Amino acid sequence: MESNSKLENSFKVKPYPVDLHVRHYDELSTGYDEYLSSVKSGGALPIILPHGEKVEVTCENIGRLAFLRDADLSHFILALHTPEDETQVVAVYLQGEWWPVGDVLKTSNKSRRGLVLVESVMERVVLFMLSQVIFGILERPLGEDLYFSVYSMREHGKILWQNGEAVGFYTVKKKGSLCDSCTGQSYQLPVLDSVFVRSHWRRTGLALQMLEDFCSSQPSEAVLGISFPLSPGMYGVCKKFLGIHEEERGRLYEVEAPGGWAQRRNVWLNIQLRDFPKHCGNSEQSPPYSCSQERSEANLEEEGILQQCESVSLKDTSSSGKKRPADQTNTGTNLKKART
Ligand SMILES: CC(C)(COP(=O)(O)OP(=O)(O)OC[C@H]1O[C@@H](n2cnc3c(N)ncnc32)[C@H](O)[C@@H]1OP(=O)(O)O)[C@@H](O)C(=O)NCCC(=O)NCCS
Repeated sequence: MESNSKLENSFKVKPYPVDLHVRHYDELSTGYDEYLSSVKSGGALPIILPHGEKVEVTCENIGRLAFLRDADLSHFILALHTPEDETQVVAVYLQGEWWPVGDVLKTSNKSRRGLVLVESVMERVVLFMLSQVIFGILERPLGEDLYFSVYSMREHGKILWQNGEAVGFYTVKKKGSLCDSCTGQSYQLPVLDSVFVRSHWRRTGLALQMLEDFCSSQPSEAVLGISFPLSPGMYGVCKKFLGIHEEERGRLYEVEAPGGWAQRRNVWLNIQLRDFPKHCGNSEQSPPYSCSQERSEANLEEEGILQQCESVSLKDTSSSGKKRPADQTNTGTNLKKART
């Protein structure tokens, strides 16, 4: 992934957290102990949110968000939630002050725009906020069972900045990087691991832009992965993308770690198989893969769909373990009371 770190330092207004220079993750918790002591003694001032709401700061409504997956316990962020609802995170404590969640996702730096590689400590805080607080809690549709893991420091991510705000991101498991700390297995191909666009900015082509960026930034790789399971929305994005970029149809696979051939399914072929019952004139309510695989393959060959996917595996890997859904033990969204 290319770096876009040459960001100008021309602030005309007060910088937001991502614009502050923080050299080490330890600095994030600087002053926490003193501050928490003042909260315990009742000396903390209430905070006023941008829309004017006043929130009292007490031990009851401060929690700790585990910030880095592979970090030691000191890497957490203090979060303030409303007294009524501990999932309603309204502010986080960074560099000695409370910042409303919306402000943590803003930048004063006009050159921070488009897709920018996550490099600095504060950029990683923004990535964390987007994946664990915005996607994980605040913009979470009811019944949604997809969660993103808390990212490790070694994971690569890009944040999409638009008009001074972080509106989405994607992360990549690099080829050769370890799948986890237990098995010693490493990824056999680059894998697009998570993609997110904030609700307000959806259906404006941003996920499409990120998928294009992922594919174009790996020109020498014959095969690219997207982490299993794809959400229905992401299937839609892939369908549109592969409809436009025919040359990528044989290159993009839905994969489970570590991404060997038995753990790959060609995305374009999957999409054709999902749509196939409609081509057959079957009911739209037919479940995906309702045609037998042999028959589907034969018909797809007839239609010329398999031509571009020579080494496609039709093996159904859907019964293997899910990668992320509901892996809440691994996320930072479980608020731990700061006083404990
Ligand atoms: C899935 C997601 C990333 C799509 O982001 P987006 O920026 O709205 O997508 P785009 O605007 O680039 O969509 C491009 C095309 O993909 C298809 N598409 C996008 N979202 C879709 C959805 N929810 N259902 C069906 N098709 C969809 C459409 O064809 C769309 O083109 P159109 O708007 O002209 O009809 C976003 O909805 C999201 O963040 N969802 C929650 C997290 C998630 O599911 N991540 C993927 C994990 S695998």
